[in-house]
Amino acid sequence: MRGRKRKMAYYRALVTGATSGIGAAFARELPDRTALLLTGRNDDRLSEMRAELGRPGRQVDCVQADLARTEDRDKLISRAEEFGIDLAAAQRRAAMTSWTRTCAFIPTAWM
Ligand SMILES: NC(=O)c1ccc[n+]([C@@H]2O[C@H](COP(=O)([O-])OP(=O)(O)OC[C@H]3O[C@@H](n4cnc5c(N)ncnc54)[C@H](OP(=O)(O)O)[C@@H]3O)[C@@H](O)[C@H]2O)c1
Repeated sequence: MRGRKRKMAYYRALVTGATSGIGAAFARELPDRTALLLTGRNDDRLSEMRAELGRPGRQVDCVQADLARTEDRDKLISRAEEFGIDLAAAQRRAAMTSWTRTCAFIPTAWM
């Protein structure tokens, strides 16, 4: 993200690797009004992140997925579409991207 003005523009965000490290840090940095779709393998940590980042009126959804598994990637793609995130566009642009006021931050390798 480049500066606060840009950061404030996101309405919906998908964060992979959201249970620790750079992904968790990115999720914490997003503004309170940004709806979050968090993913990782560890369900307990996902629940902790949802509890930590939940705010009144904010949507925080979690998808437990191992991105090394085809079926889990398909599940995430489908949940992201329901959530309003165009993952095909994210894959084309790689890593972190933003468009039409949504963003996807994908530190975890997308195979
Ligand atoms: N930290 C940096 O400064 C930096 C800089 C450049 C690039 N990177 C890259 O960014 C990535 C994250 O780095 P990090 O330092 O934040 O590492 P980290 O603390 O180990 O975090 C890894 C995250 O990815 C998730 N994850 C790992 N394997 C997964 C899989 N197969 N499916 C789904 N989720 C998976 C983990 O969640 P679960 O355990 O819940 O699955 C965790 O949330 C790495 O690929 C690293 O090489 C990091």
